Amino acid sequence: MRSEVAKMSKLRIALTKGRVEKDVVKLLSRAGVDMTPLQEKGRKLIIEVGDYEFVLAKAVDVITYVEHGVCDVGIVGKDTIMENGGAFYEVLDLKTGVCSFCVAGLADTQLYSDYRQIKIATKYPNIARRYFNERNLDVDIIKIEGSVELAPLLELTDAIVDIVETGSTLRENGLVVLERMYDISARLIVNTVSMKLKKDDVIELTDTIRQVI
Ligand code: PRP
Repeated sequence: MRSEVAKMSKLRIALTKGRVEKDVVKLLSRAGVDMTPLQEKGRKLIIEVGDYEFVLAKAVDVITYVEHGVCDVGIVGKDTIMENGGAFYEVLDLKTGVCSFCVAGLADTQLYSDYRQIKIATKYPNIARRYFNERNLDVDIIKIEGSVELAPLLELTDAIVDIVETGSTLRENGLVVLERMYDISARLIVNTVSMKLKKDDVIELTDTIRQVI
């Protein structure tokens, strides 16, 4: 891993495609970095932007690339970090993409009404299991890949554990927040070897971002 990191010259940043990407373009533009190459990337996945090389990837893959040392830095949501974990340093809260993990369901849901197993649908089984286990509650987690709001509507589960940003997805589907679990936002993570070998570059990047957070 050490040699892979050492042979890279530019700081290589794995960036989560989509919302996080848009927020980072805004953030770094405000910090004076010309982000035009990223804005005009088309279908390209590796884009050079000044002293940086951006790699566009899915959130969970950002963690994989940083853990394996083929990217020095990653920018990824705390939700993905909490669900997947990994060996890297989490060095900065970008304070963008702010939203929260919530337990949600129909307004009249009585989650703890009697001694029975609570059924929860989620894209985040590890986070959901940890939350209910910490409360000594017996929970049956059903993994759903998307549009998890369907599960309580179809009476598959009592409730869901999901990310709530504006709340409009819940509202438009007749669901409400039953419990707010954790606040989340985009985080900057660093490979453990890059933290030593490219320390100055990492510090320069975090300082650049910090001044516009
Ligand atoms: C997320 C989340 C909710 C929605 C919440 O889904 O799973 O469905 O956003 O946002 P809101 O509170 O602003 O309505 P995403 O858009 O990532 O799509 P997905 O369901 O396919 O994962």
